[in-house]
Amino acid sequence: MGDVPVSDNPLLDAACAVLLPQHCKQASAAIKVVPLTSSRQRAQSSALETKVWKGPTKTSKHHKTFGIYDGRKLVAMTRVTTTPLKAWESDEAYDMMAKFDPEVAITATAVHPDHRGKGLATELKKHLQGRYARIITGSGRKSHPSVVRVNEKTGFEKALQRKSFTIWKWEQPEGR
Ligand SMILES: CC(C)(COP(=O)(O)OP(=O)(O)OC[C@H]1O[C@@H](n2cnc3c(N)ncnc32)[C@H](O)[C@@H]1OP(=O)(O)O)[C@@H](O)C(=O)NCCC(=O)NCCS
Repeated sequence: MGDVPVSDNPLLDAACAVLLPQHCKQASAAIKVVPLTSSRQRAQSSALETKVWKGPTKTSKHHKTFGIYDGRKLVAMTRVTTTPLKAWESDEAYDMMAKFDPEVAITATAVHPDHRGKGLATELKKHLQGRYARIITGSGRKSHPSVVRVNEKTGFEKALQRKSFTIWKWEQPEGR
């Protein structure tokens, strides 16, 4: 991925969405999502979260982190917890959540401000959908409004509404 989102070619990129959608599609397939496992990668992820959220979100051995690089710079990250029901243990919605039986919950997604609107959060969600069969995620007052669009276009559905906080769920369609 280059400074421009899809083609590494400013001329092509400018024309891309309108004139050459087939090139956009090809190039977006080149966005690569990688697991962030090394201490260097984890430090980069915390730094990106700190820039976007004013501090890194909680992490533990139950969390996995994935990211997208522009060269050596981490420009997008997302984190999931593999113990998604833990946060619901004393909640009245626990039975409903347990029935859905999510494999993971997305606990954070952050895209560098210079790289937003290029489909990176969408690619991160699609990557998780390739790995996990049932996913939950949340959006609320502090989330960027575009997260609703990202959730909708990746097929997440609203599962629960609590004031301004929404829980979304996605499950792999049958036969996939
Ligand atoms: C939310 C966030 C992760 C989205 O990342 P992104 O890489 O810009 O998202 P994408 O480019 O994949 O998709 C953005 C979509 O929202 C749309 N969008 C952009 N601004 C929008 C707005 N203000 N309201 C609604 N939709 C908007 C875009 O047009 C695009 O949809 P499209 O592909 O149909 O055109 C990023 O803005 C971010 O890091 N925000 C701060 C942290 C945050 O809020 N994280 C989510 C926590 S739940």
